Amino acid sequence: MPRLNLLEETRYEKLPVSIYDNAAEASISVAHRIADLIKSKQAKGERTVLGLATGVTPIRVYAELVRMHREEGLSFRDVVTFNLDEYYPMKPDAAQSYVTFMQENLFKHIDIDQNNVHIPDGTLPQEEIAAFCLEYERKITSFGGLDLQILGIGRTGHIGFNEPGSAPNSGTRLVTLDDLTRSDAARDFGGKENVPTKAITMGIGTIFKAREIILMAWSQKKAPIIKKAVEGEISGDVPATYLQLSDNVEFVIDRDASLELTRFDTPWLVKDCQWDEQTIKKAVTWLAKTLDKPILKLTEEDYNTHGMAQLATEKGPVYNINIHIFNKLQHTITGWPGGKPNADDSQRPERAEPAKKRSIIFSPHPDDDVISMGGTFIRLADQGHEVHVAYQTSGNTAVWDDDALRFIEFAIDFNRSQNLNTTELETLYSNMRSFIKDKQPNQKDTQELLTVKGQIRKGEAIAGARFAGLPDECIHFMDLPFYDKSKTQKNVSYEEDILETMELLRSVMPHQIFAAGDFADPHGTHKVCFDIVLQAMQRLKETDEWVKDCWLWLYRGAWHEFEIHEIEMAVPLSPQEVLRKRYAIFKHQSQKDVPVFPGDDAREFWVRAEDRTKETARCYDQLGLAEYEAIEAFVRYRF
Ligand code: F6R
Repeated sequence: MPRLNLLEETRYEKLPVSIYDNAAEASISVAHRIADLIKSKQAKGERTVLGLATGVTPIRVYAELVRMHREEGLSFRDVVTFNLDEYYPMKPDAAQSYVTFMQENLFKHIDIDQNNVHIPDGTLPQEEIAAFCLEYERKITSFGGLDLQILGIGRTGHIGFNEPGSAPNSGTRLVTLDDLTRSDAARDFGGKENVPTKAITMGIGTIFKAREIILMAWSQKKAPIIKKAVEGEISGDVPATYLQLSDNVEFVIDRDASLELTRFDTPWLVKDCQWDEQTIKKAVTWLAKTLDKPILKLTEEDYNTHGMAQLATEKGPVYNINIHIFNKLQHTITGWPGGKPNADDSQRPERAEPAKKRSIIFSPHPDDDVISMGGTFIRLADQGHEVHVAYQTSGNTAVWDDDALRFIEFAIDFNRSQNLNTTELETLYSNMRSFIKDKQPNQKDTQELLTVKGQIRKGEAIAGARFAGLPDECIHFMDLPFYDKSKTQKNVSYEEDILETMELLRSVMPHQIFAAGDFADPHGTHKVCFDIVLQAMQRLKETDEWVKDCWLWLYRGAWHEFEIHEIEMAVPLSPQEVLRKRYAIFKHQSQKDVPVFPGDDAREFWVRAEDRTKETARCYDQLGLAEYEAIEAFVRYRF
């Protein structure tokens, strides 16, 4: 029976949810709960039986447990663990095995008895798996059952590897992985084709028997699935919804993962709101979208029947609210992303003065600039601003090996044709070929190969920026050191990257900065690149006068777009500009057709970019504003 929920604000939520400001705080709190449980059982002379998960989510929980072991004497001698799952087939000593993961992140740093560690065996012959699974269940029972099970959640809604279609009473068994789960794991395995198609996982029924269940989720990437798991109907399509049937479950999530819960996304549906400008804008655009009506046609009745009666009473009549929001949206639209010279700019997103601005576009990877804001880039250059572009990382992981060989072959042939010496190049080339021949999936490339791949992307980036209209001296290929370092080191310092960025900013002294604002993936390159720019600006603010007049605009679009109510500058593109942008993206030949990291979107980058900007234009049109071919969207970041 689903539980009763008597609180208004959380009335859409079918299980208890604790929300923390960030993943670090949440992880520490979960680790302390685990430690308290272990200590209280130790005090009674009892063992603690833990169900453990792998993946990115629990890493900081384990780190805090290790810290407590080292610094506070927390002992795991009386702890027995059962891991949720393991890929099948999988050798325990493989880099991607969950055995390796658990050893590296927890077991090898604590005093647990290795005989008390249980992880499904990925090496069994298929015919022995069923018996092994029964034995796994029996062992859990023989230790008195799980005291506490911790879980992550996959974007399919899987818990453990119980993918959509799993039964609520399922036990430990061999399962087939969902396609999206395999895409998410592709990076760890150096390509989706290397990800096993199967796994051995505890069942939903096994998880259910735990005396306490904590499911954790961090970052905006998990927000849509958290909404489904917490508020959706119980269904095998989203296995985590079965947890709604448990009385012993709690979701521990960070603010970003909570953003799509009704109480945050559309708070007017559950409680009285503080109607500030931003909330009104969000509510009115939401209402128009929900009813598929232009803003100026929304009625009092529409407001009253959609949880917005309080707004109508407090700030009405509703037609005035409609006009106010319509005007606000109208004022976001500008064909002058660098400001319109000699125009009244009181209602425009950018300042008119200085008429000729210095703008710098920071592009995390070498193609983000043209993919995400290529139209605006071209416009800024066309309108005579001094535009610079800074490619922050080399993007050298995303080039196919045979493309790299092709370029060296070209260099050898060219040198030969000019009667130049090729001996050293040929040695280099033959080393590369033999390395590539024996290369294991996900093996790090040699330095030479990485250099060639980086150079390929550099050439493409320069071609794209030239096509957009930039002179060579305004194109900066930064190749920030953190990018290569993070392939081999944990806890990379960004100091060098920040200093380099400060130096570039000082040499340009921009009036405008454009930076990628995709924060959904907290470990992703985009977030790191943004933090580096922000740190650099924050330091420069202390000493440099020009920083006061510098505005920072965020762009998105590589994976997702801003929501309409968030947009502060909307730059419309003509059909001709859409084409020019497409040609600029085409300069990135190594990323065309099938890129090395396509993500879970089968469309080519230029198609994704066009679809997204056309969708933004369609939304503006649907709200009753002008109908454009495409719109690029920006949000101002006030630092
Ligand atoms: C891991 C497991 C999975 C993960 C889930 C989330 O043992 O069973 O259910 O918890 O795929 O993965 P991350 O934490 O990497 O987002």
